[in-house]
Amino acid sequence: MRRPLRRRHLNAAVQSLAAAQALVRAVRGRPGGLCVLTGAGMSAESGIPTFRDALTGLWARFDPAELASEDGFRADPQRVWDWYAERREAARAAEPNAGHHALARFAQRWPGTLALVTQNVDDLHQRAGNTDAVRLHGDLLADRWLQACPRRRGCSPDAAVPGRPPRCGECGNPLRPGVVWFGEELPPQALEAARQAAEACALMLVIGTSGAVWPAAGLVGLARRRGAQVLIVNPAASEIDDEAHLVLRGTAARMLPPLLLDDTALGP
Ligand code: APR
Repeated sequence: MRRPLRRRHLNAAVQSLAAAQALVRAVRGRPGGLCVLTGAGMSAESGIPTFRDALTGLWARFDPAELASEDGFRADPQRVWDWYAERREAARAAEPNAGHHALARFAQRWPGTLALVTQNVDDLHQRAGNTDAVRLHGDLLADRWLQACPRRRGCSPDAAVPGRPPRCGECGNPLRPGVVWFGEELPPQALEAARQAAEACALMLVIGTSGAVWPAAGLVGLARRRGAQVLIVNPAASEIDDEAHLVLRGTAARMLPPLLLDDTALGP
């Protein structure tokens, strides 16, 4: 007789959602009370593959050292440029999901409460309305020169001669995607803003990240050490589950509307 098991699962899910909703309710209206850290899982239901999900994740199909590093780009600029061009098209074709919209609506309803920090290089948070999201790993849709332009007033990337990759017509300097590659420093201002948000919050909500990449993953422990409650939303186990006070095993698009907006119940 299996039926009682399903009912017990649902009750547990409803109970932990209720406990999580109480944590969110407690910080509404509190300046900087809620810090949200998102990863690739946030955009998975918008059709953008994650990095480390088995088989479907990008790194299960491609070698990050070859495609997401300066050495890899220098070794084969065209291949790397084409790979990012594909990802750009996929990001442009994607739409924010119910999770993105719930975060944007939360920010509208309780201005000043949410500090949103993302590892994602797509623009779905911004398109949903969170235009002030802190981008830790750069922007897939913003190219920049591989080398800093030697001219006093640097050449605009828009002036690049078309190609794969486009290059400066004067010095041949190639354009590269405006994302943070492995082995590179994060943008200092973004990292500092993220640290301040993690230190100041009363609730750290972590959505759709494996916690495999630092220093982003370290923000969770920093918040906890400063006394914040840590709540994780992820359908699978992550490397930072130990930092959590509460874990919701579910997806971003399904969990965030009831969690943040309280106006929809968790369906069977
Ligand atoms: N909703 C919520 N979480 C999800 C969903 C979903 N629909 N689908 C998958 N996940 C979870 C997975 O269980 C996994 O824990 O999202 C996580 C995705 O992990 P990664 O693929 O490792 O992505 P992320 O944590 O963002 O990677 C960090 O690594 O490759 C670099 O720069 C890249 O920003 C990226 C960083």
